Amino acid sequence: MPKEVKIFGVFIASPSDAKNERELVKSVVNNWNAEHYETDFRYEAILWESHAKRNVGRGQDIINEELVDKSDLMIAIFKNRLGTPTGGFMSATLEEIDRFQKAGKPVCILFSNESSNDTQEYIELQKWKENNAWNGFLTGEFSSQQDLSEIIRQELTKFRPMLEGGATAEEIYSKRKIQETYTESSSYDPTKDKERLRLQSQATLKFDKEHLDSVMKYLREKKGDQPIKILDVGCADGTVTVSRFEGYENINVLGIDISSKQISRAIENNKDKTNFTFQELNIIEAESLLDTDYDLIFSVYVMHHLKLSDVVMNNLWKKLSGNGVMFVRSPDDGLKVNFPENDNLNYLLTTTDKIKGSSDRKHGRKLYTFMKRFEDKPSKIDLKYFIDDTSNLTGDGREHYFSHYYGYRNQEIDKLASETKLPGDIKTAEKINNIMIEQKERFEDSSDVYSFSAAILAIAYKDFNI
Ligand SMILES: C[S@@+](CC[C@H](N)C(=O)[O-])C[C@H]1O[C@@H](n2cnc3c(N)ncnc32)[C@H](O)[C@@H]1O
Repeated sequence: MPKEVKIFGVFIASPSDAKNERELVKSVVNNWNAEHYETDFRYEAILWESHAKRNVGRGQDIINEELVDKSDLMIAIFKNRLGTPTGGFMSATLEEIDRFQKAGKPVCILFSNESSNDTQEYIELQKWKENNAWNGFLTGEFSSQQDLSEIIRQELTKFRPMLEGGATAEEIYSKRKIQETYTESSSYDPTKDKERLRLQSQATLKFDKEHLDSVMKYLREKKGDQPIKILDVGCADGTVTVSRFEGYENINVLGIDISSKQISRAIENNKDKTNFTFQELNIIEAESLLDTDYDLIFSVYVMHHLKLSDVVMNNLWKKLSGNGVMFVRSPDDGLKVNFPENDNLNYLLTTTDKIKGSSDRKHGRKLYTFMKRFEDKPSKIDLKYFIDDTSNLTGDGREHYFSHYYGYRNQEIDKLASETKLPGDIKTAEKINNIMIEQKERFEDSSDVYSFSAAILAIAYKDFNI
């Protein structure tokens, strides 16, 4: 017996190099419908190949009017190409995305993280991704066809209630951002990385203190005799918290961390310090749980672990008092220099960065923009650069440097080997592991091999005036 169903069009947009992926999305949509056959909700995959009528006129205009304008959701896929330019747009796919977005309809963009080449078009694609992709769209990456089908299947399920409820793209984005922010947490396990964190803490101590001193002086002038209230987000076992703040008087420090093991250690190690408190808390819950009058929010080497760190930072910014200051330091491996150039090292850097769930190794450069975009604008943002290199380092110094800047990759290797079921990933993990061993030996024994690393510290002031 015929039944009435609501059909929502999913427009599949992509440059021509994602031909196989277009077909894959179509079959995922069909399978999704089969799984939801009992309901009155259906998706229809709309592709220009199958749906465009052969009318006379500019091909792209026909696709826009007949298909793009009549679809409800867009899934755009990018691999190596940005696409063929159309009048006024760098590519037809970008024209379709723009048209969809202007109509207030949701666009979900997925980038292959397996692709890489040095063509101009690929470089343009990466530029476009950096500049636009994270802002205002729902975006993600896929590493294989299997990964892509799983992502699309989940996306179709997530979009359903919102499309059914008639939500606009803006409502969908903000709701999804909040949902994702609230469910995310870092997969980083600090308990497995204690020694490296200690090295990291030592290496940056002087740098942090130098800049904290001026921030604390500023806050002291603002606060007079009142205690300065400090929040350390992602404090781990409290080593960094205490080493950075114990010299200052009349302060109250709360350190929070998602890891219960780390917080237990922090409490145990600092029982005698009455002005330091430690609490197990996921930053994501900060919005509802924390006070709103911190004078200083301090967070070092944490935000790059969070998928939506811009949203988290914006929420934390609201937790500061009127004169408050935010102090965030993140790594930026994109600024790393290694000489001589080394294929193995490049392989290690690029491959582990692609591991699903690994941290954002270029987070440092984003801090300024994230802060500039806070809803309630900072009056001043200072940027400071922490640089570290191997010149004149020998023996232990080189060993420390390598452990500090490359050691976290061991954790990524473990993750890759244990969490994925794909045989290719296990092989990659083995390959990276071998390269790590080889690199470590070469690096430590060759004092002529040079490496340079950087981190970026951003300090935002709510109301800077002195
Ligand atoms: C690389 S460690 C840095 C620790 C410390 N700030 C330091 O500089 O040594 C990152 C820390 O962030 C914590 N973390 C990650 N995601 C978190 C979240 N969602 N909420 C609270 N802490 C989190 C981890 O448990 C870990 O202790």
